[in-house]
Amino acid sequence: MESEQTLSIIKPDGVRRNLIGAILKRFEENGLILTAMKMTSLSKSQAEGFYAVHRERPFFASLTDYMSSGPIVVSVLDGYNAISKNRELMGATNPQDAAEGTIRKDFAESLEANTVHGSDAPETAREEIGFFFPGWELIGSKRS
Ligand code: CMP
Repeated sequence: MESEQTLSIIKPDGVRRNLIGAILKRFEENGLILTAMKMTSLSKSQAEGFYAVHRERPFFASLTDYMSSGPIVVSVLDGYNAISKNRELMGATNPQDAAEGTIRKDFAESLEANTVHGSDAPETAREEIGFFFPGWELIGSKRS
């Protein structure tokens, strides 16, 4: 079975409410391996770069203000079907639509402050991992 990698962000609302451990525990309990991780923060322009695909959306200014409002925890998750597994664990973008037992159902405050982000496809995952962990592929994705 080939493993794949995805990027996870615990957003400012998750860090502010001391949910880092609770969220990482869900990844680990569901077979996702943390192969890189750091706490950091985004400037407004870095948030605009990360979410550039949403530049034309009406919520772009608010989203990038919010994402640059406090510390975040970014990680690379590794595992079989890691992208879809992470999205399943996160639940729907809008917490009102999220399934029972998902991270967003249990923790999210709103559509914007929805606690976690996860890459949506292999190409996006490569780009998003490179955004936060430049050279990560050279360092190597395997934890010993
Ligand atoms: P995320 O998975 O990080 O991808 C883009 C983010 O934009 C999304 O989670 C939400 O936090 C936010 N978002 C998506 N749609 C809306 C919306 N209609 N209004 C406000 N924020 C949104």
